[in-house]
Amino acid sequence: MAVIKIYLYGEEVLRQKALPVEKIDDGVRELIRNMAETMRQASGVGLAAPQVGDSRRVIVAEVSQENSGLIALINPVIVESSGTSEFEEGCLSLPGISAKVKRAAEVVVEGLTPDGKQVRNKYTGLLATVIQHEVDHLEGILFVDRLGFLGRSALSFKLRSLARANKV
Ligand code: NI
Repeated sequence: MAVIKIYLYGEEVLRQKALPVEKIDDGVRELIRNMAETMRQASGVGLAAPQVGDSRRVIVAEVSQENSGLIALINPVIVESSGTSEFEEGCLSLPGISAKVKRAAEVVVEGLTPDGKQVRNKYTGLLATVIQHEVDHLEGILFVDRLGFLGRSALSFKLRSLARANKV
């Protein structure tokens, strides 16, 4: 296991639409182990593969206050969502930035486990928010894109500074 580099706001890979994983092999499982290690080391609750520069549809999440254990999903798809909830969100790719984001309160997600097993899981609470945030990353969407005009305006200076610092 290794802690790997987290790509930051302004870097192109975060804006790309990630590609489906065609075959779950040892390389994918190693990516997942490294993502889990990187997320924990950074005290994050979720991480998507594009955030470590790998544009494939893989996410990990772990919310200790909800005893979630490590969730690792390959090619996740949100097939049902209901209700609304709002949590203060941050993102390991946008250090120093957080904002309240409205999302569905409950989601049903289908995807594959690292063993290649098809699963269908329901998530609620903070975990539902984390899963939606991570699936957004696979579409090149960041939580700040979900804010209204005022919310984004309030962050625009910080966002511009981050983008300037990270643009290659
Ligand atoms: Ni994020």
